[in-house]
Parts: sequence; structure tokens; C-alpha cells
Amino acid sequence: MSVGGVAYRRVARPVLFRMGKGDPEVVHHRTLSALARVSRSAPALRLLGGLRRRHPSPRTVFGVDFPSAVGLAAGMDKDGVALKAWPALGFGHVEVGTVTAHPQPGNPRPRLFRLPASGAIINRMGFNNSGAQALAARLATTGRIGVPLGISLGKSKITPVDEAVGDYLTSLRAVYPFADYIAVNVSSPNTPGLRTLQDRAPLDELLAALTTEAGSLAWSLGQRRTPVPVLVKIAPDLTDQAIADLLEVCVDRGIAGLIATNTTLTRPGLAAGDAATAAEAGGLSGRPLAPRSLEVVRFVTAHCDLPVIGVGGIGTVDDGLRMLDAGASLLQLYTGFIFGGPPLVTSLNKAIAAR
Ligand SMILES: Cc1cc2nc3c(=O)[nH]c(=O)nc-3n(C[C@H](O)[C@H](O)[C@H](O)COP(=O)(O)O)c2cc1C
Repeated sequence: MSVGGVAYRRVARPVLFRMGKGDPEVVHHRTLSALARVSRSAPALRLLGGLRRRHPSPRTVFGVDFPSAVGLAAGMDKDGVALKAWPALGFGHVEVGTVTAHPQPGNPRPRLFRLPASGAIINRMGFNNSGAQALAARLATTGRIGVPLGISLGKSKITPVDEAVGDYLTSLRAVYPFADYIAVNVSSPNTPGLRTLQDRAPLDELLAALTTEAGSLAWSLGQRRTPVPVLVKIAPDLTDQAIADLLEVCVDRGIAGLIATNTTLTRPGLAAGDAATAAEAGGLSGRPLAPRSLEVVRFVTAHCDLPVIGVGGIGTVDDGLRMLDAGASLLQLYTGFIFGGPPLVTSLNKAIAAR
């Protein structure tokens, strides 16, 4: 592990993890507020960016140019408040959201739990976000951030599942002009009924509507010859048959790529020390998810030609390289970044560039 990695784990992380009497959501909000301040300050951004060695590994995936492979996963900066700080920390793309058509508070707290012995997190946030319109307003003032920006869309809790299409379309229309790609989130376990949108018929209806609308928006905005790529983010808890069916729909509907995977409702391979927390309801992320995410990425790349963003349990350089070997074109981090900090992003970038 790098010197920075050791310093983060031995010094910064213990301080962070004790903040707010150990409530992970307090730490999350304070860290995000600090990064939001950095994001608004050109000198702070220069300083942060200057502390880091650059290790580019440029690639073009689904028609978008990425400076490097490692991106920030959805859910960390749902409302896009700290956008410019993420590239300064080494991320080669940022996925904001998930946002919904209606602003919503999410589930009651506590709803975010650390499982330190397992290198994992359980969350049942429930898409707390300020809404697609508010995100669009913020993005209009933020401007370009220097790396591709993905925008993740979900369904508002108050919208019934059989009216989901209209809800996603409202969000798409609001944020479309600012997105380098759109992620259709049909895989969060914390919005009742959402995952049923991965089934063949509702998925087909949703993706047909979104890709058609993306085409119309591209035409009416006249900025691009091709519409912004639309990706689908899938759950790790689907059977092989369900994934195969989903891939068929995605290919038929001109989906540009897959993001695999979201969090799992299963509780594989947790350390004994985390047994009590493991009983909390919600999606599990982090190290225990890695074997299944890898498996899903392998399955997807074996069954279709669509590019895949591999996410789930990447906590070390080896994890990231394994995900690329499994066929992923890009990577994303969430939980690994909480436990490994910015040095993990740098080490991963360095190892990938060295390949
Ligand atoms: C607290 C938390 C909130 C999340 N929120 C979202 C979200 O809003 N949308 C989404 O697509 N994924 C969300 N995720 C899932 C992550 O983007 C990622 O797919 C998952 O955590 C697996 O990656 P990891 O093991 O690196 O964390 C969230 C994860 C966590 C831990």
C-alpha cells in the first residue's frame, strides 16, 4: 500500500469515522460540505489537484472520451454539490444522482451503517435528493468539470411503479443538456417496486421511452449529432436468466452500456464482528460484494458486446485490475473510497496507466 494509503487508513480515517459520534451520515454530510467549498474555490482546487500525481489512461467508451478509468459511483454526490472536487481527487468521471422527478427526503435515519470488519456498508437511504430540476439548476451554474459527467435517474417514491416512465422522462428532460451519459437506475433496493423495472416488459417500455426521448432532445437541442448515451445499472441479485433477458432488451433498445452492479440484499461473507449490523435492512456494498459483481460483469461481457462500467467491492488495486480483466471498460468506487480514501484512486490510476 502507498504511503498515502497508510496515512489515510491510520490517521485520517479514524478521525473521520469518529466524527458525529460515529454516525456515518454526519461524516458524509460534513465531508461533502468541505468538498463543496473546495469545489467553489479555484485556489483550493489547484492545491488539491497539485497534491496528486496524474496517471492518465485515456479511453473512449460508448462514444465518450474518459481521461482515466476510475470514476465516482452514484450516490456519493447525489445533488452534485462538490462536482469539481472529484476530478481534483483523481476521478476520471463522476456519476451524480440518483435524482428523481420529485425532491424527496429519503428514508428515516439512521439509514447508513458501516461494517468495518468486513470493509462494507449497508444503506437504505431511499433516494434522498433535491430533485432533477434542482440538479439541472446547479449544473447550469457549475459549468463543465473537466471529466465526463454521468447523471443517474430513479423513480420518485410517490410515483406508482406503473407510472414510472413519466417520472423518469420528467427527470431526463430536466438534466439532459448537462449529461455526458444517463444512467437508468432500476436496481436500488431501497425504493419499493423499483427493481421490478428490470423485468422484460416494464424495462422494454421504460427504455423505449427514454431512448426515444433522448433522440428527440438531441434533435431539438441541436448540440450533438448523436443522442447522449443511455446506460442501465443492474442489481447483483438477478438470476443469470433475468440478466440474459435484460441484456436482450438493452441491445434491442439501443442502450449504450451497462453499470454492474448496485448493492445487494444478500449478506455474503461478512466478518463475525459485523453480525449485529448485518441485520439492518438495506443494500450491502463493499468488499463482500466483489465476487458477485465480478461474476455479473463477466456474464454481461460474455453475453453481449455492450461496454460495462464495473462497480462493487473495489477496495484494492488488485480488485480494480480484476474487474478490468473481467471485461469492464471503466470502474467506479463508492465504499472502497470511504475505506481507502483518495490514495486508493491514485494507486488504481497508477496501476492502470502502467499496464
Ligand atoms: C450510501 C450509498 C448510497 C448509494 N446511492 C446510490 C444511488 O443513489 N444510486 C445508485 O445507482 N447507486 C447508489 N449506491 C450504489 C453505489 O453506486 C454502488 O453501485 C455500490 O455501492 C457498489 O459499489 P461499492 O462496493 O464500491 O460501494 C449507493 C451506495 C451507497 C453505499
